[in-house]
Amino acid sequence: MEHKIEELRAAADSEIKVAADLKELDNVRVKFLGKKGELTNLLRGMSQLSAEDRPRVGKIVNEARADIENLIAVKNSELKEKALQDKLASEKIDVTLPGRKIQRGHLHPLTLTLNRVKEIFINMGYAVEEGPEVELDLYNFEALNLPKDHPARDAQDSFYITENILLRTQTSPVQARTMQKNPPNTPIRMIAPGRVYRRDDFDASHSPMFTQIEGLVIDEKITFGDLVGTLDFFCKEMFGKDTKIRLRPSFFPFTEPSTEVDVNCPICHGKGGGCKVCHDSGWLEILGAGEVHPRVLEMSGYDPKKVSGYAFGMGVERLTMIKYAIDDLRLFFENDIRFLNQF
Ligand code: DAH
Repeated sequence: MEHKIEELRAAADSEIKVAADLKELDNVRVKFLGKKGELTNLLRGMSQLSAEDRPRVGKIVNEARADIENLIAVKNSELKEKALQDKLASEKIDVTLPGRKIQRGHLHPLTLTLNRVKEIFINMGYAVEEGPEVELDLYNFEALNLPKDHPARDAQDSFYITENILLRTQTSPVQARTMQKNPPNTPIRMIAPGRVYRRDDFDASHSPMFTQIEGLVIDEKITFGDLVGTLDFFCKEMFGKDTKIRLRPSFFPFTEPSTEVDVNCPICHGKGGGCKVCHDSGWLEILGAGEVHPRVLEMSGYDPKKVSGYAFGMGVERLTMIKYAIDDLRLFFENDIRFLNQF
């Protein structure tokens, strides 16, 4: 009997030693110490022993049991530690690896230009006004001194919704709207950015939808000189300190006198040499402007004997094309990521 116990102990010891994981170790425990385990069975056989042998053998069995339990406990904590170390090794993070780059969105080039124009005029004390894109003929044309039969209406081929409602062809109607929401003769200094619509083909320099920024200043004794000074300052802010402007006489029904304004080419600075932007002309037209026509003031309740004003209107696509030397207006609307990523 004692010999048998010693054999079991030794067998348990070597099986515990080679157990590779907690599951295997538990199998060993069941095999020797479980309800039907080998040592348990041996203990049951004790009843056949004589009364004087029983206490001695019992003691040996209990010692063997304690021994095996102890070996299992030690191995158990060894295996647990090993499992933890393996886990730590496999989940190790290299904190010196560079992070994955997050793709960030950014502003559209037209928005960048719009924001810059707004910033320049807001710094000069201008307010930002808005008007609807679906507009009344009354504001888009009539109140701007373009009665129904006026030939200049043809130059802005319009999308009519009904006889009297259209998609605005220009941001100029915001001039009339701003005057009419004020008490008569209240001074105004505003810009009005927004989308406008014309029945144009979609090509390198035309789009049926584009963006304009209107400007209107009204007060006592506003002169054409104020207009020129403002636009000269604006262009220098927009295109650089060396920018020069050139005025050419023009016609708009809502201004008198009227002018078109050119800037010297900010890309080649007038040197030519095959300039893609100004085609070697050295000058680029950027806006229309003039002194507000007395009729326009009158129609919106302002008194041309008391106040005067100037107005201007420019295309945001055109400003952006000049600033970044872009030669095709369609690029703004096609959303090609290779183009947009450059801004
Ligand atoms: N509305 C004109 C256009 O779309 C641009 C313009 C010219 C606006 C002269 C003005 C201005 O306010 O005074 O062609």
